Amino acid sequence: MAAASSDAFRYAHAHRAEIAWMSQNTNHLVPPGIVARAIDRALEERVYEEYPYAPGDPELRALVLKDLGFPQDAGFFLAAGGTEALYALTRALLAPGDDVLGSDPSYLIIHRFVELSGATTRMPDIYAPPFRLTPEIVEANLTPQTRMILLIDPLNPLGSGYPREAVRAIAEIARDRKLLLLHDVTYRDFADAPTSAAEFHPEGTLTVWSVSKNCGLAGLRLGGLVARPELVRQVARYNTNDLGVNVLAQRAAIALLETKAQWIDGVRAQTRANQDRIREAARGWPGVELPVYPSQANMFVLDVSRTGIAPEALQNELLYRHGVFLRSGAYLSPAHGGRFVRASFSNVPADIDRLLTAFPLALEALRPKLPAS
Ligand SMILES: Cc1ncc(COP(=O)(O)O)c(C=O)c1O
Repeated sequence: MAAASSDAFRYAHAHRAEIAWMSQNTNHLVPPGIVARAIDRALEERVYEEYPYAPGDPELRALVLKDLGFPQDAGFFLAAGGTEALYALTRALLAPGDDVLGSDPSYLIIHRFVELSGATTRMPDIYAPPFRLTPEIVEANLTPQTRMILLIDPLNPLGSGYPREAVRAIAEIARDRKLLLLHDVTYRDFADAPTSAAEFHPEGTLTVWSVSKNCGLAGLRLGGLVARPELVRQVARYNTNDLGVNVLAQRAAIALLETKAQWIDGVRAQTRANQDRIREAARGWPGVELPVYPSQANMFVLDVSRTGIAPEALQNELLYRHGVFLRSGAYLSPAHGGRFVRASFSNVPADIDRLLTAFPLALEALRPKLPAS
C-alpha cells in the first residue's frame, strides 16, 4: 500500500539533510547570511523576552506595504503565515449559504477554510488552456449566492500567471457585482509582471501575502492581509494573535525585504534556469507532459497520466529511493490530482541534477510492463 503523505513528510523531515526538497514550493536560494545576522542580533537583544508589538513591527508594515505597492495607510493584518490570514478572513467574511468561486486545480486549503465557514466553493475545471480562470469562466460560474472570487496569481499548483488584462477583467466583475476578491499573491515575486487586483477593485480586494516563498522563510511562519481598513477591522475580529506574531520571524522578514532588490533577481534567474532544465529533460521522458510552461511561479506540474503510473507511487519512489521530494497531485485537484506530480524548483542546481537523474529511473522502475506477446 502507498504510504500516506504524512508519512512522506515524516520521512523527509527525518532525513532532511539528504533530501532535495521540491515538494512545497519553498525557496532555498535566498542568501542565508541576511537571515542569520538578523536573528542573531534579535537574540543578542533578547527581544524574545517581551511580547512583540501586537499590530506588527511598524518597520515590517511599512516594508510590506511598499513592496506590494500599497499606500502606507492601507489596512494591514499580520498573521503567522498567509494561511492564518486566509483562515481569519474566510471565518470573518463568509457565512453559511455563501458561494465562493474557486477552481480545480487550486490551493485547496483555502477551499477547506471556506467550507469551515459554512460557505460552498464552486470549482470550475481549469485543467485546460489557459490553465487559469478567465473572465468568461468567472461569469459562467457566478450564482446569486456568490460572495467571493478566489484569484491565486500565480496559481499553485500549475504555475499559471494572470495577464494584466485578465486581472483587470476579473476584478471589474467583482467590483460591478459587489463581490469580495481574494487575491492570493504568495508567488508574485516569481512572475514577470505581477498585477495588483486592488488597483481595479480597491473596496473589495483582500490581498493575502506571505514571506514563505519570495523570502524563503516558510519555517518562520509569517504573512498577512492588506485590504481597506474597514475590511481588515472585520477580519481582525478573528485574530488569534492578540499578543503578536513571532518576533524573530518579523526581524528576519524586515532584513530580507530591506535588501530584496539585491537578491531577488538572482533567485528569479536561478528558478527560471532550473525550470528550463527540467523542461528540457522532460522532453525525453516518454509520456510526461508539462501543461504549463514557462511557469510564472516557482513550481509546475508534470502530467504523468500517459505513463500509466500513479502520482502517489511516483512520489514515493522518488522520495524513498532517490531522496527527491516532489508532491503527488491529489491534495491539489479532486478532478485531476491522479494525473500529475508537482515539482518546485527554487533550489540549488545540485537538487535539479538529482531530480533529472532520479525521474527517468523512477519512471523505468514503475512503468507498467507490457504483457509479452
Ligand atoms: C497559494 C498559497 N497561498 C498561501 C500559502 C501559505 O503560505 P504561508 O506559508 O504564508 O502560510 C501557500 C503555501 O503553499 C500557497 O500556495
